[in-house]
Amino acid sequence: MNAIDMSPPSPVDAGLAHFPRADGSRTPYGVFTSPEIYALEQERIFRGPTWSFLGLEAEIKAPGDFKSTFIGDTPVVMTRTDSGGLAAWVNRCAHRGAMVCRQLRGNATSHACVYHQWRYDLEGNLFGVPFLRGLNGQAGMPADFDRAANGLRKLRVESYAGLVFATFSDTVEPLADYIGPTMAGYINRIFHKPVEYLGCTRQYSNSNWKLYLENVKDPYHASLLHLFHTTFNIFRVGMKAHCATDEGHGMHSIIMAIKQDQGETSTAYKDQKIRSFDSGFQLEDDSILALIPEYEVLATNHIQPIFPQLVIQQIHNTLVARQLLPKGPDHFELVFHFFGYADDDAEMRKLRIKQANLVGPAGYISMEDTEATELVQQGVVRDADATSIIDMARDAPEQSDTLITEKLIRSFWAGYQKLMGFDAAAAVGA
Ligand code: FES
Ligand SMILES: [Fe+2]
Repeated sequence: MNAIDMSPPSPVDAGLAHFPRADGSRTPYGVFTSPEIYALEQERIFRGPTWSFLGLEAEIKAPGDFKSTFIGDTPVVMTRTDSGGLAAWVNRCAHRGAMVCRQLRGNATSHACVYHQWRYDLEGNLFGVPFLRGLNGQAGMPADFDRAANGLRKLRVESYAGLVFATFSDTVEPLADYIGPTMAGYINRIFHKPVEYLGCTRQYSNSNWKLYLENVKDPYHASLLHLFHTTFNIFRVGMKAHCATDEGHGMHSIIMAIKQDQGETSTAYKDQKIRSFDSGFQLEDDSILALIPEYEVLATNHIQPIFPQLVIQQIHNTLVARQLLPKGPDHFELVFHFFGYADDDAEMRKLRIKQANLVGPAGYISMEDTEATELVQQGVVRDADATSIIDMARDAPEQSDTLITEKLIRSFWAGYQKLMGFDAAAAVGA
């Protein structure tokens, strides 16, 4: 995979955030609160040389199916075209800027803007303009008005293994190269056969979107914050683990935790007297903890963020493509798109839906994650130049078989610094 094109830092941008180190181990809190940095992210990340996840092909199976979503905070629609292809366009009328599509999802043969009824085909081409030629001898649009030149803004679209991505960039590498071979291998693990869309949950967090990316690159917290995890042996630090990044910019990553003998992992908690170890609890009905083997590697957890707005997740038998959508410096929306395989039997489908309760807004595990990101947001409201400490396992960069590490987070911030032009080299005192 080629490293994505990273523009050189400018002194102005460097002044927006002071990263004292290039290795991503110190992040200034201002990146979570600054409206200027948020605006720059929209340009350099979401409209920059990246591919943003829009949804699953399984969500738009038939010609005319569409879904409204976002790239960063820009409204975007993805559609299935008449010929069965994929299209995506910015959901902003070419006339005077109104949002054209106002539904979350549906099926349509064309899309009309409600304001003055300009009408577009599925690929975003303008074909209908009321009173184009005027009426009863009164003038309409000028003779030089060209419908072909005034369609919706079309985006480059590609899909990988049924995951649909789009980009504003004309220069970013093809999607498969952007994902890279290592991450593609893990995507293929989950998307190895046709999937079926089951539905979604949505939640809003009063925190910065990057705090959620830190969270899904942080195996260290998982067994300490989430009591459900440790109590019921879903995720414990003693488990066999695998943590890796892509071979390009290092902003995609994978965490896998693989089930081991319960006694072995319990000892790690008992020995250190960690509060989240408690052997006294049992579930009345433990069917939610079932783990029906269906992959070569029997992982309890597979958490794989593909930068910037996708997180692929397998926890036991529940499968999700999470979409992370920034809504300003201190808000984001998180959409959990649940899916199963097209050939699931009734029992497996039931289990996947039952285990959906582990994640999402009120999930036994996930509800603590957005709470933790909000605690950070509240804590970092001032002191923009104060930094977090991201040091766990910093002396062991090659170590990838542990859950006690912050190396994925460091790799993310190092890539972010470059992409945003916040190189430590440009900062004072680097
Ligand atoms: S703003 Fe869409 S038709 Fe006028
Ligand atoms: Fe978590």
